[in-house]
Amino acid sequence: MSIHVNEQQKLFTLHTKNSSYQFFADEHGYLEHLYYGAPIGEADMRYMRYFSDCGFSPNPYDLRGQRQFSLDTLSQEYSGYGCGDFRLNGVQPEYADGSRSADFHYQGYEKIQGKYAVQGMPACYDNGGEWETLRIDLKDEVSGLELQLYYGVCEKLDVITRCAVFHNGSSDTIRLHKAASACLDLPFGDWDVIHFQGRHCMERIPQRQRIPHGIQTISSQRGASSHQHNPFVILANPSTTETAGECYGAMLVYSGSFAIELEKSQLQSTRLVAGIGTDSFLWNLKEGDTFWTPEVIFSFSNSGLETLSNSYQELLRKNVCRGPYKNAPRPILINNWEATYFDFTGEKLLNIAKEAQSLGIEMLVLDDGWFGTRNDDTDGLGDWFVNEEKLGGNLQQLIEKINQLGLKFGLWVEPEAICIPTKLYQQHPDWAFQIPGRKPTMGRCELILDLSRKEVVDYLYERIHDILSNHHIEYVKWDMNRHMTDVFSAALPAHQQGEVKHRYMLGLYDLLERLTQAFPEILFEGCSGGGGRFDAGMLYYSPQIWCSDDTDAVHRLQIQYGTSFGYPYSAMGSHVSAVPNHQTGRSVPMSTRGIVAMSGAFGYELDLQQLTPQDKEEIRLQIQQYRKRSAIVSNGRQYRLTNAVEDRYFTAWQFVSQDGTEALLNLVVLNPQANPWGMHVRLRGLQEDAQYKDIASGKVYSGAALMNGGYTFPTMQGDYASTCIHFVKE
Ligand code: GLA
Repeated sequence: MSIHVNEQQKLFTLHTKNSSYQFFADEHGYLEHLYYGAPIGEADMRYMRYFSDCGFSPNPYDLRGQRQFSLDTLSQEYSGYGCGDFRLNGVQPEYADGSRSADFHYQGYEKIQGKYAVQGMPACYDNGGEWETLRIDLKDEVSGLELQLYYGVCEKLDVITRCAVFHNGSSDTIRLHKAASACLDLPFGDWDVIHFQGRHCMERIPQRQRIPHGIQTISSQRGASSHQHNPFVILANPSTTETAGECYGAMLVYSGSFAIELEKSQLQSTRLVAGIGTDSFLWNLKEGDTFWTPEVIFSFSNSGLETLSNSYQELLRKNVCRGPYKNAPRPILINNWEATYFDFTGEKLLNIAKEAQSLGIEMLVLDDGWFGTRNDDTDGLGDWFVNEEKLGGNLQQLIEKINQLGLKFGLWVEPEAICIPTKLYQQHPDWAFQIPGRKPTMGRCELILDLSRKEVVDYLYERIHDILSNHHIEYVKWDMNRHMTDVFSAALPAHQQGEVKHRYMLGLYDLLERLTQAFPEILFEGCSGGGGRFDAGMLYYSPQIWCSDDTDAVHRLQIQYGTSFGYPYSAMGSHVSAVPNHQTGRSVPMSTRGIVAMSGAFGYELDLQQLTPQDKEEIRLQIQQYRKRSAIVSNGRQYRLTNAVEDRYFTAWQFVSQDGTEALLNLVVLNPQANPWGMHVRLRGLQEDAQYKDIASGKVYSGAALMNGGYTFPTMQGDYASTCIHFVKE
């Protein structure tokens, strides 16, 4: 049993394989956080509570004689508002009289078998008997605002999920200016935060810094989780490394604007608050209404960052991704975007498909430009009707020809966007986000459709349903190529405009849910100008996401490295593209482009008709290799052997199958040395007493030798040389 309740003491302990979490309702009804960390068995951690008379930290009225008791210094499960806790708050309610206050007190609890669901939003799910749920009920007596805290515990995967649910038990509307999903107080110690920053074409680059006094926010106000900041942070002990030390992860299962706030307080405690972004957020909670916040996934590791990453990777693969491709090998695809951009015909596509077939590629993906009047990125989005003139026939005819070659067919869409010159815009200008009287801000010549409106979601569902049901389409690339500005819904009154961004996300999730339910066999790949919405929310609908628009293999080493801290390699769409690379102009050998792309959901994105015979031979070999290696990459454990951002000589990373019988050791030389020293790594995650054979050289090594002594690569010269050694247990 992973949830223990001591009813008399109102003491709650959550256990996972390698962590314990404890809190209790104190004698005054406050829900005090006691502990999160390495397992503590049945210990009662209340002996750790610390009180001091802290100047200028106020006391609740009923406890005015107890100067040591202040919400400002108390470790809590969820911080209220305006009652003496000056640190980060979880909620900011405003009542009919303009007052703002929330003083939550414990009401009761319920223990539930299985995993709770989050209304209208993606969340972790139970595959059967893996999860337990605890719900704690709290209430602000004066206003009638009720708060339920949900805890989902998955013992074997070492995760605890949380979300907060607000209910208005009063007869007036309560305006929520903030409604965070969870708070986590770490009462003692110094902590580093590792977060994942970036930009279009360079997403999720890890940045580590000590959490200073004051408030720091990792957030996106862009209406998307964004390239710039991922909704995932790690708090690590300053001495924590890949292989040792304590660290906590907090990952939002949400794809819109978010905020993860951190504060180190006057008494040195650290508070993390995570949830929907507060910028312009204002939710009107009417009498009797309930508001669900998105889920946060917490995990703890006492054995370094790689254990934490592997917990998240396994969880996302098994308990977030869905559909038949969740565990199955994904088709090796050729995408025509970097091969043709908008400049293609049906014949050109067919020629690429023929070449693909001869190389062993399994699917052709037709990217942007097949519909409406879209021949560049200034027009067409919204008119989801096939451009038969451009294709030289109808789409089904083209698909049949591609299928006859033995290839599957996939299609790109960007349903959430609209271009002004389109028919759809002429018919429904009010369906796009724009503010009356102002010229809208343009992003890639497009506006965003108002998915907070049900009729817009219904329209998109019908259009896409129509395309998918009338054509033999086995894969959909779901793109979104700008961030939100001019957020205003013509369908909502003034006082509800603060709800629009979140209502948009609910509309998007509804649309994706309906489509993935209607077409359960289709493989969806998420995309937002590459990895601009690479988050756990989108992974619920699409088990893979195009990792970045930067296909330069050397940059991809950093991008995929950063992404791996929270997300599985099976989710990282990764393609071999042309040289010189279209984003950077750099030339990297075909073999290295292959090794990097094979650490992901593999494919090609270049004009196959322009390849040299040697390149074609190399591609045939890559495809054979990928078939042998993909299960280890997709389902195995991963090990970051070097720091791909900081180490400038070479990058090395490793995968080990779950049963420990196979391993892949990857290396790319970034900066070859004159008079070089050896490129040495110690492997990890092998069985000490097993013998592993390098299947290319036939040489055999013991697991203990590879892990303790390590492996020294031979000297490699030239630009970006690489190797992947496949070890198999004898
Ligand atoms: C985005 C995607 C690309 C491609 C283009 C098409 O940038 O990330 O892969 O699909 O759109 O316009």
